[in-house]
Amino acid sequence: MFSFSLSIFGCQMNYADAEIITASLQKIGGQKIPLSPQSDVIIVVSCGVRQGAEERIINWTQKLRQKNSAAIIILTGCLSHRVDIQERLAFTNIFFTPINRWSEQIKKLTTIFQPEITSNGSCQDDFYSIKADYSSHYRAYLPIVTGCNNFCAYCVVPYARGPEISRSPELLLAEITKLIKKGYKEIFLLGQNVNSYQGLDQKKQKWNFARLLRAINAIPGNFWIRFLSSHPKDLDQNFIETLQNCPKISRQLHLPIQSGSNRILAKMNRRYTREDYFEIIKQIRASIPNIILSTDILVGFPNESEADFQDSLTLVKKVGFEKLYALKYSPRPETAAYLYPDNVSTKTKKKRQQILDQTWQKIAEKQNQKYLNREIIILIDKIQKKADQKWIIGKNLDNKDVIGVISNKTKTPKIGQWAKIKIEQTGSLGLRGKFISAF
Ligand code: 5AD
Ligand code: SF4
Repeated sequence: MFSFSLSIFGCQMNYADAEIITASLQKIGGQKIPLSPQSDVIIVVSCGVRQGAEERIINWTQKLRQKNSAAIIILTGCLSHRVDIQERLAFTNIFFTPINRWSEQIKKLTTIFQPEITSNGSCQDDFYSIKADYSSHYRAYLPIVTGCNNFCAYCVVPYARGPEISRSPELLLAEITKLIKKGYKEIFLLGQNVNSYQGLDQKKQKWNFARLLRAINAIPGNFWIRFLSSHPKDLDQNFIETLQNCPKISRQLHLPIQSGSNRILAKMNRRYTREDYFEIIKQIRASIPNIILSTDILVGFPNESEADFQDSLTLVKKVGFEKLYALKYSPRPETAAYLYPDNVSTKTKKKRQQILDQTWQKIAEKQNQKYLNREIIILIDKIQKKADQKWIIGKNLDNKDVIGVISNKTKTPKIGQWAKIKIEQTGSLGLRGKFISAF
């Protein structure tokens, strides 16, 4: 027996990976405890997307070592493959492992803690065939495709996670069917690029993402399907029709554009133009008029001029994104753009970020008014109580943040239940209303 704890940084994919890591360590006698420097094994699931995160993670890992000189520390995730980071963290008993080589660490740990079962078959498991130990009882994050083949000029993912690998459709469907039977209400499919899913079934037939979505939608039960992220170049009519015809799938689509300037898009190696993007949006809206769109935009990519930024801004207004993550460009070693000068000042990046934030919030404020006086269903994520007031917090199928106020006489519902809310107030960041019932 040994204790282990996890320190997770970054995106949802890392949290999903952590649930698989947990299951694989439990298989060899590990006992999970809340994050503590006193654990026998500490796994740091790292993120390498921006410089800020990298510095925080290096400092944090060094601190863990200072607090416990005996612990085995494993650095995994999107920084672990970098030789310069391995050198900076070169203290004893630290292992560096990209997630697709996780089974090598399991073997090492088994040798240390349970030498008698070193040759246990479980050590050989391919990482994504291990069944996760889900941390939520109502929402399950499932990686369907990992890695990336696209090599966008700013992005570390293809170097950190390697080429795209799709999980088997049968494995995913069997897992999701079990989860729904257990009462899970939201299935969240993950991938750097879910639309390029190409799972092979046992008959060696290839499944695309649309086929996988339709098969999940056909599983009996009352549940929602979400997914992240989609690459505009891989969206096709078959996928759009699938969204249109499958009622369990969220009508919210996150479609990162990264820039509205054709000059910058080409430098980014995104392989579409702003005109292509408008065309995709036109096709989606023709089939699903009430689709809710969100995006990511990088501000301050090398040589991004004011005119390039204006192209991003006009695109945001024209498409009408109801949510937008404006991210300040951060140069990343290994990537193609690392060779370009990071020549847009931090001040300009911040300014552009603020302008984009104000723009999407204005759009959302206007769009959210349509929910006024409507009764909507949310999935409860949080319950808050204060003196004589209670609220629930959750999201609806459109991914809107919703607060439901509960009267004092009403029985408090539970996290993970559905709730009906009558919307009485709307704003740019979400909706607020009266709790009606839970089920
Ligand atoms: N700097 C800033 N943001 C980045 N992203 C990816 N790489 C970088 C980088 N080098 C952003 C992209 C992507 C999101 C997940 O992170 O916008 O869509
Ligand atoms: Fe990074 Fe581009 Fe791959 Fe997304 S599609 S993970 S931005 S390389």
